[in-house]
Amino acid sequence: MLPEHVTSLPIKLRPFALEDAPRVQLLAGDFAVAETTALIPHPYPNGMAEEWIATHQTQRDRGIAFVYAITQAEDGLLVGAIEVRPVADEHENFGYWIGAPYWGRGFATAAARAMVALTFGYLDCDQMTASHLLRNPASGRVMEKCGLTPVQRVTRAHRGKQEPFCIRGITRDAWERWSASGDR
Ligand SMILES: CC(C)(COP(=O)(O)OP(=O)(O)OC[C@H]1O[C@@H](n2cnc3c(N)ncnc32)[C@H](O)[C@@H]1OP(=O)(O)O)[C@@H](O)C(=O)NCCC(=O)NCCS
Repeated sequence: MLPEHVTSLPIKLRPFALEDAPRVQLLAGDFAVAETTALIPHPYPNGMAEEWIATHQTQRDRGIAFVYAITQAEDGLLVGAIEVRPVADEHENFGYWIGAPYWGRGFATAAARAMVALTFGYLDCDQMTASHLLRNPASGRVMEKCGLTPVQRVTRAHRGKQEPFCIRGITRDAWERWSASGDR
């Protein structure tokens, strides 16, 4: 089980609450955020954020998925979301988004690094993988800064078009070496 509250400056992670739904809809409903993700619909339907948040506790209790709200440490403002699915053999078990006004402040990197460390530190999960569109180098850079190295390039359907993706991953052993190496 992972802790519910995690500080990794400049952000803090906490569980989502239903009251976050309007802000999730606002931030994730932005096409700039949704467009490079696999799962966020656009337009973002009313009620969807509430439905999504309502699934988190059960998934957490069953150990299937751990979803956190990413908040600014300085004032608690909700700026994004991050999820890890530590399920054996499940690929691409790691995803995140940050609201567009908050890009470029190191928030995704801090959240993703914390999640990788928590996953390998607390959970029975031996590898983490994630994919990003090649035309989304910011996400590739976030993954790189968490130690996820390129594993494979694939072309797959994305919002009705074939697009090239990079799949990245890190094993528990590689993460232990990488995090001890000082290369971060
Ligand atoms: C991808 C995303 C999560 C990055 O969030 P962020 O908080 O801005 O990321 P960070 O500030 O922690 O780091 C971004 C890194 O990418 C780099 N970067 C940004 N744009 C870049 C570009 N066009 N080319 C190369 N690197 C780029 C930044 O310089 C930074 O690296 P640095 O710290 O070494 O300078 C955010 O843009 C987002 O939510 N996008 C929409 C949803 C999404 O794509 N989610 C991921 C799906 S795989």
